Amino acid sequence: MLTVHTIAELRHALRHTERPAFVPTMGNLHAGHLSLMERARTLGDASVASIFVNRLQFLPHEDFDQYPRTFEADRQQLEAAGCDVLFAPREADLYPEPQTFKVLPDAHLADLLEGEFRPGFFTGVATVVMKLFCAVFAGKPHGVAVFGQKDYQQLMVIRRLVQQFALPIDIIAGPTLRADDGLALSSRNGFLSPAERAESVALSQALRQLADAGLAAGTDLPGQAPALETAARQALAARGWQPDYLTLRRRADLLAPQPGDGAGALVALGAARLGSTRLIDNLEV
Ligand code: PAF
Repeated sequence: MLTVHTIAELRHALRHTERPAFVPTMGNLHAGHLSLMERARTLGDASVASIFVNRLQFLPHEDFDQYPRTFEADRQQLEAAGCDVLFAPREADLYPEPQTFKVLPDAHLADLLEGEFRPGFFTGVATVVMKLFCAVFAGKPHGVAVFGQKDYQQLMVIRRLVQQFALPIDIIAGPTLRADDGLALSSRNGFLSPAERAESVALSQALRQLADAGLAAGTDLPGQAPALETAARQALAARGWQPDYLTLRRRADLLAPQPGDGAGALVALGAARLGSTRLIDNLEV
């Protein structure tokens, strides 16, 4: 595996590649990332991973400085997973000057759920993803990028970005990997104390219960959803969590279910803080 830091080095490394298969990450890799990498290896003529903790997608009070940075372990895991090229830009390689041109995602997709609680988050994500896509795919006839379904709304934002800018990139979703007790794998799980780790499974359980209650409500779901969601939030809060949202949404546009929507078109999404760690998860109904 070749490790490169600058965009010029990356383009040189990929000069003979026609269809790069790319997995962007912020590092601190776990089995979920590696499964995306393994998928990518089957999809292109060279596989590329990036590791870059993107300042633009953190709010001023968030955990940018504390975000776990484990470069050498990540590098070894990617090499063992068969990655061909690791792109690990330093901040000055990707942002040599303040990034004043930004990608502003559709407000009706990016300003709800994560975007409501983390304003500007998806602008930061879309901007860095566009920049990474330019670095990896510029001049290529076609490419593929693999993103985890755990970041459900992020995946939708990136699909829209690719569609609206007519980028010749296939976006592939990798399934969420879970620990044995059901906790979705996430780099932020490492922040949990042993007691919090034991409690953390309650988020995926709450989403499962909410999804089941949504299914049971059948055609009454549009009327019943607000009460079901309030009950789910209150149950989690009673266990010591600070929920931002637990909600049933349409998969197509993340809006509240409407009369006539089938239950199969829904997704339960949640974000909640346990101690100082904010966890997100989702479950397609
Ligand atoms: O999902 C992530 O790890 C990040 O949001 C991404 C897509 C690498 C952009 O920084």
